[in-house]
Amino acid sequence: MINYQGKLVLGPMVRSGELPTRLLALKYGADLVWSPEIIDKKIITCKRVHNEKLNTIEYLDSHNKIIFNTYKPIEQSKLIFQMGSANPEIAVEAGLKVIQDVDGIDLNCGCPKGFSVHAGMGAALLSTPNLLCDILKNLVSKVGEPNKKPISCKIRLLSNLNDTLELIDKICQTGIKNLTVHCRTRDMRNRQDPIHDYIPEIIKLTDKYNISFIINGNIGSYFDYLKLKEKYGDKISGMIAESAESNPSIFSPNPLPWNKLILEFLTVCHKFNNHPANTKYILLNQLGTKSKYYPMFAKLKNNKDMLKLAYELQKDEEEKFYNYLKYRHLQKDEMIKMDDYKQLLKEYEVKSVESNEELDKLTDFDFNEFVSTTKPPITSTENKENEYKKRKNQEPDVPTTKKPTL
Ligand SMILES: Cc1cc2nc3c(=O)[nH]c(=O)nc-3n(C[C@H](O)[C@H](O)[C@H](O)COP(=O)(O)O)c2cc1C
Repeated sequence: MINYQGKLVLGPMVRSGELPTRLLALKYGADLVWSPEIIDKKIITCKRVHNEKLNTIEYLDSHNKIIFNTYKPIEQSKLIFQMGSANPEIAVEAGLKVIQDVDGIDLNCGCPKGFSVHAGMGAALLSTPNLLCDILKNLVSKVGEPNKKPISCKIRLLSNLNDTLELIDKICQTGIKNLTVHCRTRDMRNRQDPIHDYIPEIIKLTDKYNISFIINGNIGSYFDYLKLKEKYGDKISGMIAESAESNPSIFSPNPLPWNKLILEFLTVCHKFNNHPANTKYILLNQLGTKSKYYPMFAKLKNNKDMLKLAYELQKDEEEKFYNYLKYRHLQKDEMIKMDDYKQLLKEYEVKSVESNEELDKLTDFDFNEFVSTTKPPITSTENKENEYKKRKNQEPDVPTTKKPTL
């Protein structure tokens, strides 16, 4: 059974957290990845197929649209399926449908969007704690335990400490193995600073029930997570969503500038035949905001053309934001020159990155091999492939003593 303790994970994101984002996040050091929220009633109606060409497992709706897919050679033992539900029986049916292909099931109790709460799902469950706990108990006894896989849930804070702790105490007694708290209330937006005042009390409760605890909300980088570990101890876990939407390599102390990132991202999208509309949606989040390439990509309609343009722009060192790192802070896109980022790194101590264990974790993931097996759509790619191979053998360029803050 997977363990969520002391991990840095990719959060669930509708549209943005599809397979290519998850694979890149894993490549760059995410320990676990969450699927986007998928509604219980939807997954139940899907047909499960093995796509032999891509070696993925796909769940297709009646129009053969992919609702959920996974690439097990990389995601196995790392993938949490997030479910939206307001019904204990349907939740179990949905859980049983996918459990063989995932490593845990998470109940979304934090989404404040209309489509979720109007059906009693997401953050609406925070106001119906008995129903919330019944869904979790049912998932634990009928899906999790028989399959030896963990059930977890993701909540937001309530408006005061007592109510929040009372709810968490109840949730902790359902048999879940992990609690994620998005440290904002239901009414707060992502541009507002998360509230960390309740964390010490939440830790006491989750420790009492031996449940792991993931902090979520405005963690922008690997280094932000290290700061949380320094404050709350090694067992604490962190979840990154928006910053990883902008740059899925942000899990690494040595992330990619956006121009290199989009090349890798589009290679994966091309290989896995990701829906071009979804590719473009995510890509536009990753692009240098004011890059001249933005309108050019916006016009393209398929993965191959987007990949071709990404190859082209690698040569364009005149591009204003060439080799800038892009990440997100309180919903604002931030661009920083890689050189300045490295300078920042030198100003702070990063003890954990010095340890061999951390470095091993970053290098043992042989994703490049599968990237380099992608058949490139254009001819002049040999150099690019060599670059991948070179990078594979490279030690991560990690400063040994200092720590940045983004
Ligand atoms: C595009 C997008 C889609 C999201 N979809 C989900 C979702 O499916 N399930 C969920 O629990 N939270 C969802 N969230 C919320 C994030 O998982 C996370 O809780 C929130 O963005 C705060 O974390 P951050 O500050 O790291 O972004 C989404 C957020 C974004 C930006």
